[in-house]
This record gives sequence, structure tokens and C-alpha cells, in this order.
Amino acid sequence: MNHFLDIHKTDPADLRSIIDQAGATKQARFGRPKAALDDELPLKDRMVALIFEKPSTRTRVSFDVGVRQMGGQTMVLSGKDMQLGHGETIADTARVLSRYVDMIMIRTFDETVLTEMAEYADVPVINGLTDRTHPCQIMADVLTYEEHRGSIKGKKVVWAGDGNNVCASFIHAAGQFGFDLTFTGPAQLDPEEEFMGLARKAGSKIVIERDAAKAVEGADLVVADTWVSMHDSQSSKERRHNMLRPYQVNDELMAHAKPDALFMHCLPAHREEEVTSAVMDGPQSVIFDEAENRLHAQKAIMRWCLEG
Ligand code: CP
Ligand code: NVA
Repeated sequence: MNHFLDIHKTDPADLRSIIDQAGATKQARFGRPKAALDDELPLKDRMVALIFEKPSTRTRVSFDVGVRQMGGQTMVLSGKDMQLGHGETIADTARVLSRYVDMIMIRTFDETVLTEMAEYADVPVINGLTDRTHPCQIMADVLTYEEHRGSIKGKKVVWAGDGNNVCASFIHAAGQFGFDLTFTGPAQLDPEEEFMGLARKAGSKIVIERDAAKAVEGADLVVADTWVSMHDSQSSKERRHNMLRPYQVNDELMAHAKPDALFMHCLPAHREEEVTSAVMDGPQSVIFDEAENRLHAQKAIMRWCLEG
């Protein structure tokens, strides 16, 4: 049994086999991603708990559909309706759930909820986003990049905006998959030093460039995300918008990237804030492929978790 907690905590060979498996099972559906049983049913007779302490559209639906396609069943639980949200410890919750279900996916705030759940659960635990990271998203993004442009190894990815949880997992992926990443955003919102250090140690070029146009030069992939994440206070919204406005991804900025550069956004997006509609709906955007690939990547992650 394996937990899928973070990209930098997962062996690079395993990450590669997850991406390859995801691509293969996607192809086996002959372009029809929607629910219907897969040929192989690795989750037959298995029950998966999907716990949400924050809102979700993609993570919730893609995990639910993915489990069913693999022959399993799901139980979608809201953190606030569980005793977990009313003082029961994470350790006790993990031990109780392990008596009922075969796997747990959790979206939470503080990452210690995730790590403690994994420590005390007897079943695999999957990170469905914390304040600090979002690894399932970036596995889908790597799959998406490679479907469109081949191996991501050695490519230049530019992250524009807030050095947030999704950015952190991109930096982890840079180290594990061997690509370079340039962060462009205000100094107050830089990614964590520890994460950049890890990727550099693995041999990736991780650069901070405050000038967005310079940062994007020679980029193979430009990525944006919301300026105010679910864990950020609404009272910080105006301040964050003011700081982040120079980092909006628009046609002018994209013109500095390679002509065949792709644009990604994990969604939900705030059109005309972090990115313009012209870029989101333009020819370089692969945002809906990313969303679909959540399904395929997570199915491969769940299979890997159970195979151990
Ligand atoms: N990208 C992503 O995780 O979306 P949701 O918040 O809708 O799950
Ligand atoms: N950074 C965003 C990602 C949402 C999928 C957030 O945490 O709200």
C-alpha cells in the first residue's frame, strides 16, 4: 500500500509509471472519458472515502467518476458534517475510517491533517489539495503537457502570479521530472525556499524573475492560478490584486513565450484577473484537457496506491 501525499515524496520512477499508466488507460477508452466501466476493474468491491473541507468541482467529480469506472464505490463526505469538524482527532478518524473503507482522499487546510491521516490510516491516503500543495493537479498537468508536446524533461515552465500550493507542486514536479521553472510574481508571494532548494538539488533550474515579460522569454509552458486561494483571507483580496496585477497572463505576455508555448490553469479561473479570456479560450490554452486529465491521472494514482 502507498500513500500519495506529494510529488517530492514519491519516487520519480513511480511518478513516471503513473503518468504512463494514465495515458494508457485514457487511450483504452478510445476518446470517451465519461463513466462506463473500464475493461480492468482494480477497485472492484472497494469503497473510497472522498473528504472535503474546502469546496471542489473537479477533484470531487473526477475522483468520484474515476473510482466508479474502476469498479469501486465512493462516499463523498464534507469535513464539517463529520465529527472531525467537531473536535474528534484526526488519528481516531483515520483509524475508524480504515475499518470501513479501502482508500481515503482528503482536501483540507493545514497539511498536518493530511500527514496525520496517513500516519494513522491502514489504507492509502491521497492528497486532494492542502494549503501547501496540490499534487494530483500537477500529475494531470504533466500528462497534458506530454500529450501535446512530448517529454516535459528539459522544458521551461513559467509560473506567473502567487507562489501558492499549486505552484509548490509544480516546483516539486520540476525536480522529479527534470524540467526548469521560472517564477514571476511579487517578492511577498514567492514560493517556499525549501521547495525551490529541493528542486535545485535534483538538478532543475529554478529562477525568480520579477519582470514578467523577461520571465516568459523562451517558455514552453506558461501557468497561472487564482490570486486569492481558498485558504487566503478575503480581507487580503484587494492587496493581493494590487500586487499581482502586473503578472496577469494576457496576449501581450504570451507573445514573449515560444510561439508554440502552451497555457495552463488548474481552474477555477477568474477571467480578466489572473488571465484574460482571450488566452483562456485561445489556441495555446489546454485548460480543459488538464481538467479531463485529472480523471485519468487520479485513476492511475489510485491503482498505484493499492498496488503498493
Ligand atoms: N483544480 C481543482 O482542484 O479544482 P476544484 O477546486 O474544482 O477541485
Ligand atoms: N490555489 C487554489 C487552487 C484551487 C484548485 C486554491 O487553493 O484555492
